[in-house]
Amino acid sequence: MREEFVDPLKRSDDGEDAGLRPRSLSEFVGQRELKGHLAIVLEAARRRGEAADHLLLAGPPGLGKTTMAGIVAGEMGAHLHVTSGPALERAGDLAAILTNLAPNDVLFIDEIHRLPRAVEEILYPAMEDFQIDIVIGKGPTASSIRLTLPRFTLIGATTRTGMITGPLRDRFGLVARLDYYEPDELRSIVERSGRLLGVGLRPGGAEEIARRSRGTPRIANRLLRRVRDYAEVRGDGTVDAACARDALAVFGVDGRGLDKSDRGLLEALCVQFGGGPVGLSTLAIAVSEHGETVEDVFEPFLIREGMLIRTPRGRVATPAAWAHLGLVPPVQSPDLFS
Ligand SMILES: Nc1ncnc2c1ncn2[C@@H]1O[C@H](COP(=O)(O)OP(=O)(O)OP(=O)(O)O)[C@@H](O)[C@H]1O
Ligand SMILES: [Mg+2]
Repeated sequence: MREEFVDPLKRSDDGEDAGLRPRSLSEFVGQRELKGHLAIVLEAARRRGEAADHLLLAGPPGLGKTTMAGIVAGEMGAHLHVTSGPALERAGDLAAILTNLAPNDVLFIDEIHRLPRAVEEILYPAMEDFQIDIVIGKGPTASSIRLTLPRFTLIGATTRTGMITGPLRDRFGLVARLDYYEPDELRSIVERSGRLLGVGLRPGGAEEIARRSRGTPRIANRLLRRVRDYAEVRGDGTVDAACARDALAVFGVDGRGLDKSDRGLLEALCVQFGGGPVGLSTLAIAVSEHGETVEDVFEPFLIREGMLIRTPRGRVATPAAWAHLGLVPPVQSPDLFS
């Protein structure tokens, strides 16, 4: 459980990404329902001069959970403290952070589903009653003292809602799921980032990048930067549709936004395992990835694109996957779809 895995969507560019993060609700593109709810909740809390209710953000990587946490703190004029589930190894780690909060501060816990059990248990009374019990000393002389915390807002982020325990989930006043973005929302994000980065972006170029960004702002920004590089080296710096198409072909992103590793996964599934069904861990080993990465990063997109399905017997490639790879499915497999 504890070993680290690096999400491939985060492997690069995150430093430069900071400058592209929207800082206010109005700058944040898409997720209209969530923004609507937050606008009301935050305004109400502001008027009462209280901390906003705890908020749980769930959804695949790169859709704006961290960004939204920053926005909530900004809108509340509060200080943002950032930590993550795996970083909080012992109850004392969390206690130290909690006791340093000022009233109305926002505490962001990324990957909250990876919080160790003992730490999670401290969080319950902290979230509900703004109190924690700290044990001092060991053995027969140990004693417990109760500390009252300032009212704060906890924002938890998770890529896997299924792994949040019931008691933790129930303590959030607001549970929101971030969805993949629509192509026109991604186009606005690409256009906004283009303006911030000073890219000579034509509408066709933005559209082409948006279409291949697999519904994910982080990928849209990443592709924009690669296309900008290409335009500067191979062209006159202007990014139009043709330039974006050529650039993305060079970087291995195909017309539906699949990159080399997505195609590698589908290829393993089709060629090595005859289209499946194959178990997650076997498939993950075949492509040298962590099972969690395959499940959280690769599969949601491939499932949404209708190229892969999860069955009780394992992962199965759909006819669309075979067609996309330009392969012919074997004759035995169609019973899976009948
Ligand atoms: N709604 C949005 N509008 C504009 N840009 C966005 C939006 N959402 C995300 N971005 C951009 O995408 C990048 C990735 O977003 P962010 O880091 O918030 O994702 P995340 O959901 O926290 O991902 P992870 O689960 O991997 O931590 C940000 O740097 C930001 O520039
Ligand atoms: Mg994040």
